[in-house]
Amino acid sequence: MNRYGHFDDDAREYVITRPDTPLPWINYLGCEDFFGIISNTAGGYCFYRDARLRRLMRYRYNNVPLDSNGRYLYVKDGDTIWNPSWKPTRTELDRYECRHGLGYTQITGQKDGIEVCVRYFVPLGQNLEVWDVRVTSHRPAGRQTQKISLFGFLEWCLWDAQDDTTNFQRNFSIGQVEAQKNAIFHVTEYRERRDHFAYFALFGADALGFETARDRFVGVHDGLDKPRAVLAGKCESKLTLGWALVGAHQVDLDLQPGQTKRLHLLLGYCENPQNRKFEKPGVVNKAPFRKVAAALGSAAQVDEHFQKLKQYWSDLLSHYKANVPDRNVARMVNVWNQYQCMTTLNLSRSASYFESGIGRGMGYRDSNQDLLGVVHLVPERARQRILDLAATQLSDGTCYHQYQPLTKKGNTALGSGFNDDPLWLPLSVASYINETGDTTILAQRIGYADKENKDRATLLDHLEISIAYTLKNRGPHGLPLIGHADWNDCLNLNCFSQTPGESFQLAGDISGPKARIAESVMIAGLFCAACQCMAEIYELTRKTAKSRALRSAAEKMRRVILKTAWDGKWFRRAYDALGKPIGSKTNKQRRIFIESQAWSILGRVGLNDGKALAALDCVRQQLATPNGIMLQQPAFSTYRGEYGEITSYPPGYKENAGIFTHNNTWIQIAETILGRGDQAMAYYLSICPAAKERQIDTYRCEPYVYSQMTAGKDALTPGEAKNSWLTGTAAWSFVSISQYILGIRPGPRGLVVDPCIPKSWSGFSVQRIYRGKMYQIEIKNPRGVCKGVRSLTIDRKAINGNVIPLNLPGKQVSVVAELG
Ligand code: GLC
Ligand code: GLC
Repeated sequence: MNRYGHFDDDAREYVITRPDTPLPWINYLGCEDFFGIISNTAGGYCFYRDARLRRLMRYRYNNVPLDSNGRYLYVKDGDTIWNPSWKPTRTELDRYECRHGLGYTQITGQKDGIEVCVRYFVPLGQNLEVWDVRVTSHRPAGRQTQKISLFGFLEWCLWDAQDDTTNFQRNFSIGQVEAQKNAIFHVTEYRERRDHFAYFALFGADALGFETARDRFVGVHDGLDKPRAVLAGKCESKLTLGWALVGAHQVDLDLQPGQTKRLHLLLGYCENPQNRKFEKPGVVNKAPFRKVAAALGSAAQVDEHFQKLKQYWSDLLSHYKANVPDRNVARMVNVWNQYQCMTTLNLSRSASYFESGIGRGMGYRDSNQDLLGVVHLVPERARQRILDLAATQLSDGTCYHQYQPLTKKGNTALGSGFNDDPLWLPLSVASYINETGDTTILAQRIGYADKENKDRATLLDHLEISIAYTLKNRGPHGLPLIGHADWNDCLNLNCFSQTPGESFQLAGDISGPKARIAESVMIAGLFCAACQCMAEIYELTRKTAKSRALRSAAEKMRRVILKTAWDGKWFRRAYDALGKPIGSKTNKQRRIFIESQAWSILGRVGLNDGKALAALDCVRQQLATPNGIMLQQPAFSTYRGEYGEITSYPPGYKENAGIFTHNNTWIQIAETILGRGDQAMAYYLSICPAAKERQIDTYRCEPYVYSQMTAGKDALTPGEAKNSWLTGTAAWSFVSISQYILGIRPGPRGLVVDPCIPKSWSGFSVQRIYRGKMYQIEIKNPRGVCKGVRSLTIDRKAINGNVIPLNLPGKQVSVVAELG
């Protein structure tokens, strides 16, 4: 609970009770092909598949006030105009409530006895969003009938969101719409090469009028807070060519005291086959729209679709449920963290309040990591994603760093050469196989992005080439070369950029001999972890010789790390292009970085000789804060060409000593590997969004999902979060809490039971669907330890070890583990 809202745990909703949140607090609509972002004041936009190439609504990033344009309902009641979402008019409401739920958002506003409640959602199997509206008069009986006008409003985007915000000389002349009773069609460019259009249609009431031109609805010199048509209470019902297009419908309602009227708007996307584009010369074929109208034209149909959506999420979340003594942990692990994992699966880093939808498509490393958080929820989709990702790998083992979701083609402008990229594929594939047992995926033929189909390689070939790439590309110390960057996109050791505006990641030559010096210790640790994954895959598929070879390759890399990257108390981060160490006591300011501590330990380096423990103690002493663990210390205070973008940020922000929550989760896991459950949980809670409700005015971002970054101690605003929603923290946090802290981990031979919890926890339980069976797992901690399974009973029979065998009879398995 905080002054802006609270969790409604039973409803799985976050309830916002005042509209002026510290930042727009958003939610996502859609879980298949049609998506939208929506803020607590109804701001946002929707798109079909690709936030850049098929944008339906125009949204103004960087606008003032923030978060402008959205799915607005205007009410004109006498001389007062208002919105249930408060914005854009910001007329003071008597009551406001926004409920962000799983795949839907419901906003209610009330003024002078009139309540408007609107629920926005994208039905399963449909490329559209519903605005389901209820208008109620709460005026006392006996009072006269209330006449109000209601306007539904949106602004169209001319499809390519990038072009839409830049190419005005053309765009002001190409816009085109059609209209019929209760429906407006956005058909820009349909007459030429496009085969798709959008609609905004009203059901459950007769429109009194409509509008298609922004200049007429809003005015040229007016703002969305005072739209002319709403003030006048009248739309002109005219078509438009060019300029800025909008969709608006006006409905006039007579409400008796106590009466509720219901209507809904559908906003959606349709495609037509090339040979059936037109129903008459020049008239768009509306057959797909008529189909939608038949499926969703009535309130009962809308209700049915909403129930299906609720059911979809209930079913998904039934795959994993934990009953734990900490309420914030429960909220995150059972609901919001898994929800966010699905969102990152769907959107990668493309569209959020901080990601414009035009900058980045699907990231290779990002999407591979995102899979770790969803393989238990949507294994078939994970399988397909793995194949799509592998298809953007090149035949030399490098990978396109990003690809467009619509075309699934690698982004050539950014290219490849981020040398951690290939190694995330073994991790995602292992996670998929451990979850599903489906090793057939290894034989799938995919091919390389730069080769003709005749050379189609299998997924296993892709995995092998990923490992081989790292082995082949090592530097003077025997550590992997870094290329443009490793996981830390901003550690650009081959860049040396001095030209303002130049891309740090693309400047600098990574093909010449000079680029064969800078090395990454983090990639070395990741390599060891990837080899471990591959070795297990080989064992499962009975390729023992190959498995042995990989285990020994990892062992060699561990020795290289110990020999060349152990700094005395912690692991160095990298070697720069002159061969000098980074993240070392030999640096002028004795620097320490987080990533190489985490990945050395995740790669099992120094576990038995005290080095891992020493490194984690340094992390605690030098990097940890109550808001999470900083990326490095000290921060860089000046720009340093030899390190690149990391030094471009002011101290305390982003990769320059900000608290980058993603890598915090790796340290949590590292702590569990060393058995320190209290420390792991303390780190977990230090970045847990639900726990931020207490300091929300400092934190500012949504308290129900992770943000990429919280400002570190060197910042002017320590503890302030930025870049919520689309972050690898989602997936890794779920891995950390569910697989390492609560410790129920899918392995090649079954579920491993290996919790590492705070000593004060007397126990907890987990319900998990795994390979078609329901596991009920009860963990008891009578001796107050952090880690160590002392006994394991399965359906009341004791077994040795801590792996639940796969071939148990029946569909329900009941497991009791005692720690101690
Ligand atoms: C962003 C990127 C991710 C990168 C991280 C650290 O989250 O999406 O790929 O690893 O920043 O730079
Ligand atoms: C910037 C950001 C980093 C992100 C990268 C993506 O470098 O600081 O977090 O990963 O852009 O290109």
